[in-house]
Amino acid sequence: MELDLSCHVAGIKLNSPIMNASGAMCTTLKQLEQLDKSRFLSAIVTKSCTLTPREGNQKPRYHGTSSHSINSMGLANMSLKYYLKAAEIFGKTKPVFLSLAGLSADENVKMIRGIASSETNVSGIELNLSCPNVPNKPQIAYDFEAMGDILNRVFEVDFGTTPLGVKLPPYFDPVHFNQAADVLNNYPKLRWVTCINSIGNGLIIDPITEETVIRPKDGLGGLGGSFVKPTALANVRTFRKLLPSHVDVIGCGGVLRGMDIFEHILCGASAVQVGTYLQESGIAGIPRLYHELENVMTLKEYRTLDDFRGKLKIAPLMFANKDPSC
Ligand code: DHB
Repeated sequence: MELDLSCHVAGIKLNSPIMNASGAMCTTLKQLEQLDKSRFLSAIVTKSCTLTPREGNQKPRYHGTSSHSINSMGLANMSLKYYLKAAEIFGKTKPVFLSLAGLSADENVKMIRGIASSETNVSGIELNLSCPNVPNKPQIAYDFEAMGDILNRVFEVDFGTTPLGVKLPPYFDPVHFNQAADVLNNYPKLRWVTCINSIGNGLIIDPITEETVIRPKDGLGGLGGSFVKPTALANVRTFRKLLPSHVDVIGCGGVLRGMDIFEHILCGASAVQVGTYLQESGIAGIPRLYHELENVMTLKEYRTLDDFRGKLKIAPLMFANKDPSC
């Protein structure tokens, strides 16, 4: 059976459901070139940027293992201009999504105007509403009023037909899922949401040295990897239910194996982004993800991603169990 792993995000056809998560291997042209070369990565997302370059937080600011990571880069990036250049170069081969994380509504508006007036072929804009690592800058998407204010400003800009999506933080409470969706549903031009950014302000320590593994913010940073997957799946699944079908959900969080991609898609993801695993394995690890997903699909006799996307079933009701402890 010939498998078809193609998918669509914001109407753009992608030949694989795998792309990098913003932040992972996407800060420099050299890294972006590597992403461009991997035929199993169907699109490139650039490092969340600001109008002017930033050095970011003090080092060490990233710590990763094969299963998880913590980071507090502090929005270290090369500037919008640099990533526009990257889009010009690599946009010829595959879609390039520019991730924007302006430190104010004005800065985001300026950057979006800058993209609109550039000749560059940017495939999409991922507006990051969830950076947890800039000291004294709260995550916007945890403040629903602030999120609405920013989105009002952003959608007033005429950015033509370039699709725009938002990167959301993880939510943990049904009330918050509903409040976030109520805000997002005011913007008919919104084309996707990416769920989730890292779980903000976790703490990983080394009991041998009795130190935090990263330095900024007294060791607090964004968590990624296997332990964020259940939270990511809950967010993908819930936003898939709460947003209209023309808004795609991109799954991000805990993608370390092909089966993880399968689970994200089962929860309704159109495509997935890979952060910790990409950072740790490099692009050399990406073919394994793709082939593992192919193997899962073959075993389950699914030919296309549509065959199982969003088709998660709820555990059936268990009858006649008198044991009150389970
Ligand atoms: C950074 C981290 C994030 O999770 C994010 O969304 C944007 C920037 C950072 O620390 O650079």
